[in-house]
Amino acid sequence: MPWLAPEDLHAFLRSRRSVRRFLPEPVSDDVLQRVLETAIYAPSAHNLQPWRFAVIRTDEAKAWLAQALAAQMRSDMEAQGASAEAIEARVQRSQVRLQEAPLVVMLNLDETVRRDAEDPHERHMMVQSVAIVGLQILLAAHAEGLGGVWVCWPLYAQEAAQQALNLPPSWKPQGMLFLGYLAEAPAPPPRKPWQEVTREIR
Ligand SMILES: Cc1cc2nc3c(=O)[nH]c(=O)nc-3n(C[C@H](O)[C@H](O)[C@H](O)COP(=O)(O)O)c2cc1C
Repeated sequence: MPWLAPEDLHAFLRSRRSVRRFLPEPVSDDVLQRVLETAIYAPSAHNLQPWRFAVIRTDEAKAWLAQALAAQMRSDMEAQGASAEAIEARVQRSQVRLQEAPLVVMLNLDETVRRDAEDPHERHMMVQSVAIVGLQILLAAHAEGLGGVWVCWPLYAQEAAQQALNLPPSWKPQGMLFLGYLAEAPAPPPRKPWQEVTREIR
């Protein structure tokens, strides 16, 4: 017997959207705890659970992170020859988005749990495992009535994020999730039909 009516679970999974605008309402400790407790039931390669979460909720911590990520963004864009106006507009937009997110969860990969340092596929599996737990957080948050979005910015500024948050040296940021109560209801972006992305091998 399925735990839930399949049609309900399918509808739930299909209704998750990336939400980028949030109400200023905080997310309680209880809700955050339930989300993270469910998230860690995600599968991981060798069950190594290489994910580590940094929870950022204070304006102060968000400001440290935003400044550090922005500094890296500025220097990357300068190196690419972007105009000063384009750089400031992008930096400003990104910083405001971070500061307005009620809850930020930095998703890190802990390199100390790596099973075989020589095998590059093992590293790949750890990255895959962290991505899966990220989705599990988004889904658990969705179950709580929260919206969320995966933001890849820290991947471009791993050291800056690590230093700003004073993370252990082995915690490598992979991305961050912005979470909060919804201030928008985005329409579903188009999907390629499943038939187009699937090939049955006979
Ligand atoms: C690995 C990954 C990185 C993403 N990075 C960003 C990002 O930096 N900024 C952003 O606004 N959305 C980001 N997204 C969200 C995607 O844009 C979104 O999932 C996609 O457009 C489909 O929309 P949906 O999640 O509402 O179904 C990312 C999603 C994934 C899985």
